[in-house]
Amino acid sequence: MDKLKVLITREQIAAKVAEIGERITADFAGESLVLIGVLKGATIFLADLARQIKLDVSFDFIAVSSYGNAKQQSGEVKLMKDVDQSMEGKCIILVEDILDTGLTLAYLKNALQTHQPKALRIAALLDKVSRRTEPIHGDYVGFEIPDEFVVGYGLDFAERYRNLPDICVLESDSETR
Ligand code: IMP
Ligand code: MG
Repeated sequence: MDKLKVLITREQIAAKVAEIGERITADFAGESLVLIGVLKGATIFLADLARQIKLDVSFDFIAVSSYGNAKQQSGEVKLMKDVDQSMEGKCIILVEDILDTGLTLAYLKNALQTHQPKALRIAALLDKVSRRTEPIHGDYVGFEIPDEFVVGYGLDFAERYRNLPDICVLESDSETR
């Protein structure tokens, strides 16, 4: 049986997402913006964040796979689905659920930089700073969290729990990390 303990409530998330939306609205005043969500974890954050940005916004999605078991990244990132449109000259924000080692976003930032966008920023709802191995930081970060495995608000464990409204720490019997 998995045990769930609430770490960040839906109210705290909503307030933070509104704050990030305001910052992005101010930072990109007068610009059009493309939000690029990293499937699947970022979808709920992207949906809420987009509605807090008072600009001309469009969406795109990108998918990556990283090998290893459900809780442990292997260090290898592979692009499974690229963006649909060219990002040349566009202001883009890569939207991700969590910055952990930084491998995924370092890889994606690099890949998108080749499109020669006008601006490229990273929005991550959560940041496990202590786990970082890549020299990468989020431009818009919601919450710094300790090195614990979390689920909910888009984040999964083996595809489960993405629909939980709060962000919870998952404590399972069969510890795999
Ligand atoms: P990174 O490449 O190590 O930064 O890992 C980023 C990806 O690992 C995220 O997009 C998540 O899919 C996954 N991940 C890292 N930590 C957690 C967690 O605590 N819960 C759920 N997924 C996580
Ligand atoms: Mg994931």
